[in-house]
Amino acid sequence: MIVIYGASGHTGSLIAEALFEHKLEFAMAGRDLQKLETAAAGRCQDLRCALANDHQALVQIFEDADVVVNCAGPFGLIGESVVRAALEADCHYIDTTGEQDFVRSIYEQFESSARAAGRVIVNACAFEVALGDWAAHAAAAALDAPIADSITVSYAVENMKPTKGTQLSILDAMGKPGYRWDDDRWIPVSPGAQRLEVDYPEPFGPRIALSFPSPEVITVPRHSPAKHVQTFISLGQDNPFTRAAGMVAPVLAPVLTPLLGSLLRTSLGSIAESTIRAAESKRPSDGQVARFAIVAEATLGDRVSRCAVAGEDIYRVSAGIACLAAERLQNEGELGGVLAPSELFPAVLALEEIAGQHALFIELPATIERSELT
Ligand SMILES: NC(=O)c1ccc[n+]([C@@H]2O[C@H](COP(=O)([O-])OP(=O)(O)OC[C@H]3O[C@@H](n4cnc5c(N)ncnc54)[C@H](OP(=O)(O)O)[C@@H]3O)[C@@H](O)[C@H]2O)c1
Repeated sequence: MIVIYGASGHTGSLIAEALFEHKLEFAMAGRDLQKLETAAAGRCQDLRCALANDHQALVQIFEDADVVVNCAGPFGLIGESVVRAALEADCHYIDTTGEQDFVRSIYEQFESSARAAGRVIVNACAFEVALGDWAAHAAAAALDAPIADSITVSYAVENMKPTKGTQLSILDAMGKPGYRWDDDRWIPVSPGAQRLEVDYPEPFGPRIALSFPSPEVITVPRHSPAKHVQTFISLGQDNPFTRAAGMVAPVLAPVLTPLLGSLLRTSLGSIAESTIRAAESKRPSDGQVARFAIVAEATLGDRVSRCAVAGEDIYRVSAGIACLAAERLQNEGELGGVLAPSELFPAVLALEEIAGQHALFIELPATIERSELT
């Protein structure tokens, strides 16, 4: 049995659709029965209500579950209580977060207790981060070296129409410190403080990308040793304006980021949050799917190994990834602890599986032998 918490949202509904298509037994849970009924659209009769801050009620609705799939965000605000309840109810837990600070905090708080209990927690089973984590693993493995000099994961996204949950998560993350991995520790770094020229797959092409805090910084060093791990996002099309912005951002970022963090902790932050919450909840329609490309590069001296993924429909791809992870964990009895997506699946096989399901383009590092994958 799989229980989706936050099932009334856009991502939760798509996960329900994917689980239904895979004929897996699931329940839809959240804080509002009426919204759950609408989201279920006749696909699920097992609807369960509990508030995210009511620990006992959460434990109760998770009690018969093998896996809890959490897609109620912002995770920095409500995620920890769902993790805690899932562990107490003796379930595996996965979520769709893209919030770096939350992923670090769950790893630091729950790794030992999840391992001792023989339960698995895998954060970020979604477009951001599973695809980037798998691509980084594949690129680093192709170097065939004990430790890489650096691993970078760079995103490019176009036509994104973020849901209310995504907007709130971005706002929450903007007020928190970002990290990169440097010589065996996480170092705070301002978003935009580093720039990188990235050759994305078509239709994106070469673009300037700026550093931003994505959770691969937390997950990748656990399976792919590297001196430096950092994540980037493209500024937009390659033109003189974005090139100029790319030059200026690293200078301004260290000054502006603390200011932004302070501003978001004042009433201005509360106003921004209430405005997003009060807005009508719109879901991206079929004509509004976002295009994306992700490039992971691992370097060692002069050698560069790269793995790229590209495609469209970020939310449906995320639902496919969460469904794959939930199915994988349903009968899991050996693993335990807070795992990265590449510790749950062989990275290249997982990339190929999701690429096959969602017609994604993948560019694998040429030196990987298929016999090395399982
Ligand atoms: N990493 C990625 O690539 C990726 C991809 C997709 C989604 N996400 C993340 O997943 C989360 C959900 O996204 P979405 O697109 O589904 O957003 P959404 O459509 O706005 O749905 C948000 C969901 O969270 C629930 N929720 C919000 N606050 C809650 C609270 N205090 N207690 C209990 N439930 C609460 C909502 O319940 P109600 O319906 O009752 O309001 C709803 O079910 C976001 O954090 C988003 O950033 C990440």
